[in-house]
Amino acid sequence: MSSAHNHRFSIAPMLDWTDRHYRYMARAMSKHTLLYTEMVTTGAILFGKGDYLGFNEEEHPVALQLGGSDPKALAECAVLAQQRGYDEINLNVGCPSDRVQNGRFGACLMGEPQLVADCMKAMADVVDIPVTVKSRIGIDDQDSYQFLTDFIGTVSEAGVNLFTVHARKAWLQGLSPKENREIPPLDYPRVYQLKRDFPELTISINGGITDFEQAKAHLAHVDGVMVGREAYQNPYMVAQVDQELFGEQQASMSREDVVEAMLPYIERHLANGGRLNHITRHMIGLFQGQAGGRAWRRHLSENAHKPGAGLEVIEQALAQMQQGAAHAAQVQAKRKNPEARS
Ligand SMILES: Cc1cc2nc3c(=O)[nH]c(=O)nc-3n(C[C@H](O)[C@H](O)[C@H](O)COP(=O)(O)O)c2cc1C
Repeated sequence: MSSAHNHRFSIAPMLDWTDRHYRYMARAMSKHTLLYTEMVTTGAILFGKGDYLGFNEEEHPVALQLGGSDPKALAECAVLAQQRGYDEINLNVGCPSDRVQNGRFGACLMGEPQLVADCMKAMADVVDIPVTVKSRIGIDDQDSYQFLTDFIGTVSEAGVNLFTVHARKAWLQGLSPKENREIPPLDYPRVYQLKRDFPELTISINGGITDFEQAKAHLAHVDGVMVGREAYQNPYMVAQVDQELFGEQQASMSREDVVEAMLPYIERHLANGGRLNHITRHMIGLFQGQAGGRAWRRHLSENAHKPGAGLEVIEQALAQMQQGAAHAAQVQAKRKNPEARS
């Protein structure tokens, strides 16, 4: 089972965040980034009323992340996912939420490596696309390096050759999922060691990566980096991925170019009866750190959810952003030269 697409840079699966609208925007900014869906449970796919597998053709390469621990159900979902055209199927072995633990999947599965191996084999037997795992480095007191290598060893024997490892353990009791992304300390060297001990595996590292200097430093030790929160809260970072990590020579798009690229997509969405804020909620961080960025964010947050809101809200937000930027430039010029009159 080889992975045809590149894992050098991927955007993490994030519930409620990396939906198909966000992924469409990310793809508009980067050809090479591998995109992951939000986690979708086998129960939702097999018994839910909605279509949980929908995505835009433009999103490729796109990996579906599944939540589940029943090999048969996972295999059924894997077949459906392959039929729909996903490029990879990933099993969530990292989420610590109570809801997920009750369903006996997510991070608690790190304690059941043979079950994970059975799940992965069941999927690998019925599809041709790669099946991969996203895990932590440990759970609760099971946090030794030996525990991690036993897990990876057992699961890789089932035919998995790509692991993304969130470089902190999860506490299954007492911490919220958010705290579990912040409190257990990051241990990057442990993931580097994994790559040294399993050189034949593709290892991608995840957790706390916020810029390309860090990403490049990790890539000296592992095969890929996966970025979550930063790629969402500061989405414009994705516009530099191809240049920074894939040797693309062409200049990256501007933030305004990204907005422009989204307009036809938004128009189609609105024409199909969709709401503006379902897309713009992923765009509010686009001008983060820029003069006028706050005005952009505020205008979208206050107006895009209103019934009937259309593209004019984006135009107004851009205008407000530009005004805000011009004002900031004036203030700065005055600060430099207090005598100047505006
Ligand atoms: C809002 C949110 C939702 C998340 N949902 C998922 C999920 O569905 N599946 C998963 O494996 N991890 C999920 N995660 C964890 C991320 O994939 C990632 O492992 C974590 O945020 C650490 O990476 P980062 O420091 O780059 O954000 C989620 C994280 C956030 C912030």
